[in-house]
Amino acid sequence: MSVLDVRGLSKNFGSLEVTRNVSFALEEGARCALIGPNGAGKTTLLNLISGRLQPTAGTIRVAGRDVTRAPEAARVQAGLGRTFQITSLFRRLTVHENLALAVREHQGVARLLWPSRRVRARVDARVAGILTTLRLEADAQTPVEILPYGVQRMVELGVALALEPKLLLLDEPAAGVPRDDVGIIFDAIAQLPPSMAVLLIEHDIDVVFRFASRIAVLVAGAILVEGTPAEISQHAEVRALYLGESRHG
Ligand SMILES: Nc1ncnc2c1ncn2[C@@H]1O[C@H](COP(=O)(O)OP(=O)(O)OP(=O)(O)O)[C@@H](O)[C@H]1O
Ligand SMILES: [Mg+2]
Repeated sequence: MSVLDVRGLSKNFGSLEVTRNVSFALEEGARCALIGPNGAGKTTLLNLISGRLQPTAGTIRVAGRDVTRAPEAARVQAGLGRTFQITSLFRRLTVHENLALAVREHQGVARLLWPSRRVRARVDARVAGILTTLRLEADAQTPVEILPYGVQRMVELGVALALEPKLLLLDEPAAGVPRDDVGIIFDAIAQLPPSMAVLLIEHDIDVVFRFASRIAVLVAGAILVEGTPAEISQHAEVRALYLGESRHG
């Protein structure tokens, strides 16, 4: 059973066809990069999968469950995670506090006024695990608002991980991050649990080839080709279109 199974997905904005009959599947632990020119419809496809947008046609299954018409929260329940906007963090709270809130919510103990020692220990253990994965231990007690932007994006990633998704959607996670801090983000992504499937939109082709076991190329809303990095790098049209090489070069 696939973690994600998208069939015949289409989305029109008025007469503009932004997603055209897209079908693909991701298996457990897949590392898939979604690439393509600006305006190809990559973010729209992610928004359809996460439930921010409703498709015009097609179906979306997460871990076997048809979520095509399900609201975003139900998709999170089914195992879908995505990074949130920076504003969804509690800026005055520390990194640890932000992660603990997300973990408590996920573990269903957010409403307990006096959580038992056992509950608190379980939450703290999970927070510690996320801090380790993302190498954020040193920043645990720092308020989010005084952290560099790149580290704030890492905390966002941590909040997504707190929900233990089967599939994580990442739309240009290093966008706006200063060059020197980009490395820590992709190092962290490389450290994600192997069973978690990850769908990454990324423009830096070197990052894509290092990260991905599968690459899907989206052009004008449709998948031009999908395959292993080796297959994609040999594809004449991809080289011409996306890698900026001459078709005959
Ligand atoms: N809400 C909307 N209403 C109308 N058109 C939209 C809407 N959202 C996106 N579009 C259009 O859909 C097309 C695809 O946009 P999308 O943001 O999905 O592309 P993208 O591949 O993510 O691009 P980029 O690489 O620049 O992030 C664009 O032409 C965009 O203008
Ligand atoms: Mg985009």
